[in-house]
Amino acid sequence: MFLCAVTGPVRCWMKHCTLRSFGAGRPRLVLGIETSCDETGAAVLDEAGVILGESLHSQKQTHLDAGGIIPTVAQRLHRENISRVVQEALDRSGIEPSELTAVATTVKPGLALSLGIGLDFSLKFVRLHEKPFIPIHHMEAHALTVRMLHPVDFPFLVLLVSGGHSLLAMAKGIDEFFLLGQTLDEAAGDTLDKIARRLSLKNHPECSTLSGGQAIEILAKDGDQLAFHFKSPMGQLFDCNFSFAGLRNQVTIAIQKKEKEEGIETGQLLSCAKDIAAAAQYTVASHIAKRTHRAILFCKAKGLLPQHNPSLVVSGGVASNEYIRQTLKIVTDATGLQLLCPPSKFCTDNGVMIAWNGIERLKQGKGIVSHTQEVHYEPKAPLGLDITTDVKEAAIKIPPLKLRINS
Ligand code: KG4
Ligand code: ZN
Repeated sequence: MFLCAVTGPVRCWMKHCTLRSFGAGRPRLVLGIETSCDETGAAVLDEAGVILGESLHSQKQTHLDAGGIIPTVAQRLHRENISRVVQEALDRSGIEPSELTAVATTVKPGLALSLGIGLDFSLKFVRLHEKPFIPIHHMEAHALTVRMLHPVDFPFLVLLVSGGHSLLAMAKGIDEFFLLGQTLDEAAGDTLDKIARRLSLKNHPECSTLSGGQAIEILAKDGDQLAFHFKSPMGQLFDCNFSFAGLRNQVTIAIQKKEKEEGIETGQLLSCAKDIAAAAQYTVASHIAKRTHRAILFCKAKGLLPQHNPSLVVSGGVASNEYIRQTLKIVTDATGLQLLCPPSKFCTDNGVMIAWNGIERLKQGKGIVSHTQEVHYEPKAPLGLDITTDVKEAAIKIPPLKLRINS
C-alpha cells in the first residue's frame, strides 16, 4: 500500500487519486468552512491541530437588533462574507489553495439557507482546485473539538448545548455516537436567547452586544437566584431528554406580572431583571446537570464508559457559561469523571472545529469524497444511533446532589 497524501497510511478510497504524487511526510492541511447558522467561519489547520490561519464573521449584532435570526438575512450575510472570510483564513495561514490536502465544510444540520451558501462555495472551490471534499456534521465537530486541545481517547460522554441543540451522546469514535438524550422542544441557548429578548436585555448598557446567553450570565452574577422559583422541567421522567419550553413559559408569566406591578412598557428594563436571569440560569443549569447525571449513571451501568479516566466533554455555545460549568463539575466530582470544556472561543461556532473534524476524518480515511461528487446539505440530521428509548427504559434514579451554587 502506498502512502496517500489524503488518507495517509490508510488505504486510499479514490479510484484516481490525484494526490499520490504528493508523497508521504508532507503535513496534511485542511481548510474548514462553517456557515450552518449565524457565523461565517473559516480556518486552515495542520494535522497536529495547529491553527495556521482563521477568520470569523459573526452576524450576532444584526440578529440581536432584529430580535432573532431571520434565515434570509443570515443567508445574505453568509453570501456577502464567505469569500472574504475564506480568503482571510488562507492569507493568514500563508497557504495556497494548491497546498491544501482537503476542504471540510458543515453540510448538516443547520439552517437550510445558511448551509447552502457554505456548501455551494465549497463545491466551487474544491472543483476549481481539484481538492477532496469532507462533508461535516456540525454536532460531530462540536463533540470532537476537545481532541484538538487535549489527548482525549474514545469513548467519552459528550454534552452539547447550543442555540440550536441540546443533546447527550456517547462518542465511541470520530463518526460513531450513541444518542442518549436530546431536547423535546427548544434548545437551552434558544431559551436563554428568548428570555433575554423578553427582558429587553439588549437595552441594558452591559448587554447590548451580547448574545442572550451571555447577557443572562452577566446579569445573573448580581442577581438573587432565590427571588423567583421556576420549576425544573420533567422532574418525573427518568430519561435524559431535555425540555426548556415550560421554563420559558414560567419566566414569561413572571415577567408579565412584574411589568404590571412596576407599570413598565415592553422594551423597558425590569428592576428585578437580574433576579429573573439568576433564577432562570439556575433552573437551566440544574436541568442540564440532572440529565447529565442520569446519562453518566446509565453509561456506567451499561459499561459504556472506560474504567480509567472517564470523561465528560461539554461544548456548544451554552457551554461557555461558567455557572453551568460549575454545576456540571458538582456532578462529575460526585461520579468520578473528569470534566473537559474547550475554551469559549471553541465552544461557539467557528471554522476551526470544522477543519479539525476534517483532520480527524482525513487521518482515518473516513467520509472523504472526490471533488466531482454531488453533495447535498441536510437541515435535520440526528447524531449517531438513537438509544434514548433504552435510556428511558432503564429508568435510572439519580441520588440528590446540592446543585445550587452562589453566582
Ligand atoms: O454553538 P453556538 O455558537 O451556535 C449554535 O450552533 O447554536 O451557540 C450559540 C448559543 C446562543 O444561544 C447563545 O445565547 C449561547 O450559545 N451562549 C451562551 C453563552 N454564550 C453563548 N449561553 C449561556 N452562557 C453563555 N456565556
Ligand atoms: Zn454550534
